[in-house]
Amino acid sequence: MSTTMTAPEILARKGGAKIRMITAYDAPTARIADRAGADVILVGDSVANVVLGRGDTLAMTIDEMVYHTRAVAGTAPHALVVGDMPWLSYHTSAEDTVLNAGRLVREGGAEAVKLEGGRKRVPMIEAVRDAEIPVMGHLGLTPQSVHAMGGYRVQGRKAADAYELVSDARGLADAGVFAIVLEGVPDLLAEMITAEVAVPTIGIGAGAACDGQVLVFHDVLGLGEGRLPKFVRQYADLSAVAVAALERFFEDVQSGAFPGEDETYHMPEESAAILRELRESAGTLPGAGLVADDLLADEAMER
Ligand code: KIV
Repeated sequence: MSTTMTAPEILARKGGAKIRMITAYDAPTARIADRAGADVILVGDSVANVVLGRGDTLAMTIDEMVYHTRAVAGTAPHALVVGDMPWLSYHTSAEDTVLNAGRLVREGGAEAVKLEGGRKRVPMIEAVRDAEIPVMGHLGLTPQSVHAMGGYRVQGRKAADAYELVSDARGLADAGVFAIVLEGVPDLLAEMITAEVAVPTIGIGAGAACDGQVLVFHDVLGLGEGRLPKFVRQYADLSAVAVAALERFFEDVQSGAFPGEDETYHMPEESAAILRELRESAGTLPGAGLVADDLLADEAMER
């Protein structure tokens, strides 16, 4: 039996047990996600916002995504590791797309890649699939299109726009993606797409009808900054826990309570005695080369 989740297994979850997906960007977050039972770990380009302090995802490069993907995949999680393709790594040609997706797999250790956009991405998706790399689609509020969308806005609120997104979802499914992320769309639209396509949908701000859900690690655990989007449910306030722990550490440093006996190394008693004797005879520790040879010879004899 396989010990790691695969893209075909995720595809087979259509209409079955809900798919549990979370982002992670480094080894500690990947280990936590995997221990908690994630089916899919997405090394999202949201790393730009939540880890690197950038205003949007557009500055992420394929080199940076490979770097973060390698950190996650290096923990050998049970979950499927999906590497996010950054902006402009799949827009210029099918050939560039395959080479960049291949870097996420070969250098980063990803087992699948994700890219944003609808029917116009079909040639790229087919090319990547031809290279035997599973592809996850991403529709709706696609953050890499922030300027084209005029901001981070819910997509598909109007019937005509919603219909376009249904057609996009059909196009992606026909092109062979193994799952589609639906981000920032009304619940009715997500429900219709979910019913319409034979591949699982994974929602983020897309209501409860999707075949799975994904959120950003730092949002779920309270490690982010600023106001959270409406669709996030924060399950812990780890920033507060971390600040309180560090405050206690700093108090202990200040008071001298840290380090204690258990956190301290000691030298063998004979060596300590030699050092004390040296200091006492000279009033201070002599400089290098001035130490009486016979004293240090005593220590050599002890070994
Ligand atoms: O980059 C990311 O984290 C994502 C998820 C929000 C789906 O694309």
